[in-house]
Amino acid sequence: MKPENLRRMEADRALVERYLEGCFLYDGEPQQTLFKAMRYSLLAGGKRLRPILTLNFARACGGTAEQALPFAAAVEMVHTYSLIHDDLPCMDDDDYRRGALTCHKVYGEATAVLAGDALLTAAFTRLGMAKLPPERVALAVTMLGECAGELGMVGGQMLDLEGEDKVLSEAEVGAIHVRKTGALIGAACTLGVIAAGGTEQQLDAAAQYAAGLGLAFQIRDDMLDVIGDAEKLGKKTGMDEHKNTYARLLSLDECRRRIDTLTEHAVKALDAFDDTAFLRELAQLLADRDS
Ligand code: IPE
Ligand code: IPE
Ligand code: MG
Ligand code: MG
Ligand code: MG
Repeated sequence: MKPENLRRMEADRALVERYLEGCFLYDGEPQQTLFKAMRYSLLAGGKRLRPILTLNFARACGGTAEQALPFAAAVEMVHTYSLIHDDLPCMDDDDYRRGALTCHKVYGEATAVLAGDALLTAAFTRLGMAKLPPERVALAVTMLGECAGELGMVGGQMLDLEGEDKVLSEAEVGAIHVRKTGALIGAACTLGVIAAGGTEQQLDAAAQYAAGLGLAFQIRDDMLDVIGDAEKLGKKTGMDEHKNTYARLLSLDECRRRIDTLTEHAVKALDAFDDTAFLRELAQLLADRDS
């Protein structure tokens, strides 16, 4: 990435962090344990890829980052909830996330379930609070609901669990990945377009970019479970033995080729926008990420 785009990414990350820092601080309420657990996972770091996508798709449509910030934060809240639940003993049973103990390890399973529930709910409250024309807010609610729910991320998590210890085809593994990971990345990109009042064509193009980027992102995640460094990733590696991942299905070289092709597809979709250098370089950066 060019230095000016790296700086932009850092500045966007800081903007998102500041916004999230201000969330769930309620002095007069007795359920402080819940707020603590929510903030524990939400503020534990993470790349903030999804909100960065939202802010930059808003810019690519002539809007501002500030305008898109509540939408960006909402997507990150849904993402964080999905991680808390994904790590539970009844799902992937992970002890580390974002370089720290998982939410249920610190607060117990029941509180972790509730922290996830509350983050998911709060995401939609944030959308409702955005100071944008009501038709944009309504579209954002529908889009995030569809992408995060039974047809998107939750649907993918169901298939992921059902696929454990089974031999699936590449098409079936792809169907898991586009739902469990691609769908929310799709929401992140399209919510930026919606916040800025972009065109129908830009909305489609953002969805296409996300389709390439989202699948490439999960294939890289699968690869990193095999070749990654736990310290850098902030989560344990070697956890996917019983899962249907691309790294189990294909050779690492073949995974690499899939990622490169998908990244090319993603970048092609950017023709619908004016200023695309950042989004292009971001897709390339993610293709080679090691965390
Ligand atoms: C992890 O997502 C879960 C997947 C969908 C692969 P990220 O790799 O974006 O996790 P954070 O937000 O940086 O912690
Ligand atoms: C996560 O996929 C997808 C989610 C919806 C959370 P993984 O289970 O592969 O994510 P990690 O490897 O635990 O981060
Ligand atoms: Mg999982
Ligand atoms: Mg997992
Ligand atoms: Mg994984």
